Amino acid sequence: MNNFEFKNPTKIIFGKDTIEKLKEEIPTDAKVLLLYGGGSIKKNGIYDQVKTALTDIDVTEFGGIPANPEYATLMDALEVIKTKNITYLLAVGGGSVIDGTKFLSAAAVYDGDTPWDILTKNIRTEKGLPFGTVLTLPATGSEMNSGAVITREETKEKLAMGGPGLFPVFSILDPQVITSIPQRQLANGLTDAFTHVLEQYMTYPIGAILQDRFAESILQTLVEVAPTVLKDPTNYQAASNFMWSCTMALNGLIQKGVPGDWAIHMMGHELTALFGIDHARTLAIMTPSHYKYNFESKKEKLAQYGERIWNISEGSTDDKAYEAIAKTEAFFHELGIDTKLSDYTTDYEGTAEEVAKRFKARDWKLGERQALMPEDAEKIVKMAY
Ligand code: NZQ
Ligand code: ZN
Repeated sequence: MNNFEFKNPTKIIFGKDTIEKLKEEIPTDAKVLLLYGGGSIKKNGIYDQVKTALTDIDVTEFGGIPANPEYATLMDALEVIKTKNITYLLAVGGGSVIDGTKFLSAAAVYDGDTPWDILTKNIRTEKGLPFGTVLTLPATGSEMNSGAVITREETKEKLAMGGPGLFPVFSILDPQVITSIPQRQLANGLTDAFTHVLEQYMTYPIGAILQDRFAESILQTLVEVAPTVLKDPTNYQAASNFMWSCTMALNGLIQKGVPGDWAIHMMGHELTALFGIDHARTLAIMTPSHYKYNFESKKEKLAQYGERIWNISEGSTDDKAYEAIAKTEAFFHELGIDTKLSDYTTDYEGTAEEVAKRFKARDWKLGERQALMPEDAEKIVKMAY
């Protein structure tokens, strides 16, 4: 096992009817900016619950943060923060609203001229403007981590940022919120969380027995609850296990002491930037090709995953590893998620070259050994056509 340090300061408030606890978490003298997305919270009652809990607090609102949070929209929110002397941010939404809020937390204290530099120059935020979250969509884990991904339509870029100052102070997780989530987004959430675990697990054996078991338990739980979550989102037992699995998949715990890959995400982000494909779906497109291309270096973990998650007991390590990739792709299909780029766009010619060009310009070497070069990414994306 590798050496590690672990600190996660986010307070989690989990369970039924917990949104009312907001009033105990936000300082009474705070000037709050309440941030939300396209308006789903106004239809499903979450907005009303939040407003009721904040009755005695000075609240300004900023709605309209789109899925794949857009830099230009966030710059308008930054203006509000500055003109209204906002002291506290509250994100009510899924990963996009929470990530947008993290960007604002960083940008509000950033003293450079162009906040986009936070993303292009990898500026870590040591201490941002404090913020809390009310999670409305289990998927990204953003509610308990310090990373964010921001999109800029103008340049068709989607870049990651983060830093120890960008953990939410608190996050409220009421699994009942999933009852209003469309099927497509439920499937996305299951796929995103599943892939988050894979990115931190499907590398090479390093003797981190406990982390492997943590990771496998999250994968098993997602596989177990997925059919019920999709069929009946009012099933509280399935909803609560789904929500907690998504949070645990990317709150730092399972990545400690082990190598991490994340190439699937980096290639996937480009597909969202270029075609607007939902984040989770880009991961389902990239995962099978990535594992086939990197088969030799990943086959031991692939086989272990095949045995423990998909109960594959027959055959050699290679057989089990191949079968595990097939099972993974079949799982995505069962969720209703297509796994080829051509399922989403007819305009895919040249995508692989464009991704490679971008990675080269950024001087990126990806994967758990930083050995995946732009030329490799080009071949993998092409395999995913
Ligand atoms: O905008 P509203 O009206 O809120 O509707 C949203 C949006 O259309 C809707 N929704 C959310 N909660 C709902 C609901 N509809 C009905 N009922 C509810 N309770 O769902 C749609 C998608 O929301 P979004 O926040 O975009 O989804 P998700 O949580 O999947 O977030 C995706 C974003 O997170 C980034 C992705 O790249 C993408 O930009 N990621 C962030 C990560 C992180 N910070 O750690 C890691 C991930 O790998 C990922 O990259
Ligand atoms: Zn993801």
